[in-house]
Amino acid sequence: MTGTAADSAPGYASLPPDPISLRALAAQGLRYALVDTGDPVAFRAWLHADDRGFLQAKRTDAELEPGLHGIADRRTTGVYDDADWPIATVDSWPSPLTLPGSSAEHPRTVASWAISSVTVAATHRRRGIARALLEGELRTAAALGLPMAMLTVSESTIYGRFGFAPAAFAADWTIDTRRVRWSGPAAPGRVEFLDVADYREQLPALRDRLRLESPGEIEGWPLRWDQLVGSTDPNSERTKALRAVRYIDDAGVTRGLALYRMSGGDDDFTQHTVTVERLDAETPDADLALWRFLLELDLTVELKAELRRVDEPMRWRLGDFRAAKAAVWEHQYLRVLDVKAVFEARRYPGAGSVVFEVGDELGFAEGRWHLEVEQGEATVTKTAGMPDGVAAIALTVNELSAISLGGVSVANLVADGRITELTPGAALAADAMLRTDRAPWLSIWY
Ligand SMILES: CC(C)(COP(=O)(O)OP(=O)(O)OC[C@H]1O[C@@H](n2cnc3c(N)ncnc32)[C@H](O)[C@@H]1OP(=O)(O)O)[C@@H](O)C(=O)NCCC(=O)NCCS
Repeated sequence: MTGTAADSAPGYASLPPDPISLRALAAQGLRYALVDTGDPVAFRAWLHADDRGFLQAKRTDAELEPGLHGIADRRTTGVYDDADWPIATVDSWPSPLTLPGSSAEHPRTVASWAISSVTVAATHRRRGIARALLEGELRTAAALGLPMAMLTVSESTIYGRFGFAPAAFAADWTIDTRRVRWSGPAAPGRVEFLDVADYREQLPALRDRLRLESPGEIEGWPLRWDQLVGSTDPNSERTKALRAVRYIDDAGVTRGLALYRMSGGDDDFTQHTVTVERLDAETPDADLALWRFLLELDLTVELKAELRRVDEPMRWRLGDFRAAKAAVWEHQYLRVLDVKAVFEARRYPGAGSVVFEVGDELGFAEGRWHLEVEQGEATVTKTAGMPDGVAAIALTVNELSAISLGGVSVANLVADGRITELTPGAALAADAMLRTDRAPWLSIWY
């Protein structure tokens, strides 16, 4: 499916709190309730609690204003004792998650439940409140018919116990620009400056096409882009330092956008750092031309770019491979809820057949699943017996979620002991079916 949040799970924002979690929290004297985001008093209290949970400063009413409107469409939940602010928060919404085989022309996505703002007040920690919230979110997603849950994390140690695992990775690049000797032909188009306001106008449409080319991406939302260009914080030094450029191809069409800022250079004006805030390009020419522009800026010694692709093609053009260092980390966490729906929604590079014997403590993905692929399309059947002569692996829902986008190798997880081959050579057979040509990537936080 390709729809937007609203049409993939109608009525999601008002679905009542999960009854099992409601009872578990009530047993502790706590009230688990949806927040009316149209009520500014209640929603501000929730936003304050969210900030407190994430160790942020308390915002003024004016500073809360963008959030009050920008995330009001989410299913917003709080846990209350007798104070005005909730003692725990979570919000969630459906978003299409891009799957392998997707393109802007022929999108392949699965409607997934994005979970965010998970906080529990320090006064109420380690009493099972986060567990009640998370399990409640998974049951809510399943009740809405959403086959996958997803989140990005501040701590990587929390969500494995609920069946989540990283499926898309990101890299923070640091490049010594003095060592760069750009190689390869010049792009036929040109790079030119544009106002940051124009960049803000143009970015969503470009990025919306691009997210459909990259397994692991989800929809953006206006507030995310406002925060990127700093319009929610117009007087900050970061906002004032932002510059935008675009790549225009030889037919005059904008094919790429980049946002960056300069810092440093205080003691020696030749020693600035360029920080790339975002770079989006829909052709290889645009991608390479924008990188080249940023890497060849005068008066800089270093380029930093966080939350980038692990496999940036730019690296091969630097002239000196060791000019670049990439710190790779896990970013997009997935949790399969409906095995058949997820694995039938994506495309596959090769034909074949494999059985997944899946363990899932919460039950959603539990069972033996036979995945048969022909001409790139899968049929998934839940089976009682083990089909003859078919490659088979045993794994938990965590590993199943990790391999679902094709960016994590089954063979690697067999070597690590997380996946067991039930038939010899099954890992290789599974990888041949599942792996994709480009590393899954998510370019935003949520
Ligand atoms: C992280 C946080 C939500 C946990 O809430 P909590 O109510 O204390 O968690 P629970 O008591 O429900 O714990 C559930 C399980 O997670 C584990 N856990 C909780 N916090 C953890 C942490 N920070 N690191 C590792 N494990 C953690 C608990 O040990 C427990 O494990 P078990 O049930 O397998 O024994 C809370 O501490 C918090 O708000 N932290 C700051 C904001 C934040 O980091 N949010 C996460 C955003 S991604």
